[in-house]
Amino acid sequence: MKAIILAGGIGTRLRPLSCTRPKLLFPVLNKPLLDITIERLAKAEVNGLTLAVKYMAEIFMQRYGESKHGIKISYSIEKKPMHTGGAIKYAEELIGHKEPFLVLNGDIFSTIDYKALIAQHKENNAIATIALCKVEDPSRYGTVKLTKENMITQFVEKAPLGKAPSNLINAGVYVLDPKIFDYIPAGRPVSIEREVFPKLAKENKLFGYQFNEIWIDIGKPADYLRANRVLLDNEQQKHLFGDNVKVDSDVEFNNPVRIDSDVTIGQNSKVGPYTILGRGVVLGKNVSIENSVVFPNATIEDNASVRGAVIGEETTIGASAEIMEGCVIGDYASIHPNVTVGKGVTVCHSKEVTENVANSDRII
Ligand code: GDD
Ligand code: MG
Repeated sequence: MKAIILAGGIGTRLRPLSCTRPKLLFPVLNKPLLDITIERLAKAEVNGLTLAVKYMAEIFMQRYGESKHGIKISYSIEKKPMHTGGAIKYAEELIGHKEPFLVLNGDIFSTIDYKALIAQHKENNAIATIALCKVEDPSRYGTVKLTKENMITQFVEKAPLGKAPSNLINAGVYVLDPKIFDYIPAGRPVSIEREVFPKLAKENKLFGYQFNEIWIDIGKPADYLRANRVLLDNEQQKHLFGDNVKVDSDVEFNNPVRIDSDVTIGQNSKVGPYTILGRGVVLGKNVSIENSVVFPNATIEDNASVRGAVIGEETTIGASAEIMEGCVIGDYASIHPNVTVGKGVTVCHSKEVTENVANSDRII
């Protein structure tokens, strides 16, 4: 079985952290999301993978090379962003016409059973089978009307609030028959969700596969934090350390926590719950951190506190600084001592913050 992962999105909603790494390489429990996805594909006996890339293509090629976990990897590099359907069409030669193939939106974490999805696709003789899950607010997603026989009779992408046909959404995981290539015009960007799926639904060739396993789109900072939280809950080991972690006296761990290698934690600090520290992170004395993900090599100085935030790589959070819920601190930024960064503030890459910032959704 072959698979294609759509990995060419810009990740606008995860800026500034997505300016320096593709969204698919954001660490989830200290491991890039794409590593986790490729491992799961290998378990489902996928043996050929095409990464459809554009933005930061060379980072993917350097990291994954020609194979990973026994899966042969090829790259379909778009000259301009072809969007979801256009990216699949652009990779037509690499995928070939021999058999149905899997398509994954790369920014999804899910424990969906790929084999069961493939099996259902074959039963229905469909052109496309879409994995579907239920959410409370479907307005950010593709939604469907589904019959008892699992046929999708309507597909609507990002319906306005209250206008979605149901709260069953497109999970961004498909099995497609090679006939799909006849439905996608070549040479221009095409949204499979807006142009192709609605047409297949009208022709009764689109089917759905409902599943109840974990599913999270990491497209926004809050979702990214939630993905890490859900996975921490799901892991058997609630308290896991890498090599060479140095913990000073009287440190309090509130599980679940995940600490990568070469981390140092100073006296009297409180770590967790739901806290993930990347490789080489340094916490001073009396630091308090909860519900947060810290990227590698960040430093959080004495008496600082961090709640519900994502802290970028090599940032410095100064002594007695306070980072409130919903903040995203870009790589290499420096928050000066005693500064409070209020709820929901996004701090740009390399920015120095010298004064308090009020609660807001603004970017500084
Ligand atoms: N190669 C390539 N080229 N990939 C692309 C391009 C492109 O031009 N544009 C987007 N992608 C990739 C993104 O990297 C992502 O992995 C996937 O395609 C989906 O794009 P998003 O931009 O993340 O779309 P979305 O989250 O708003 O909506 C999609 O996902 C939802 C589930 O999370 C749609 O498929 C919805 O219908 C779906 O419900
Ligand atoms: Mg997305």
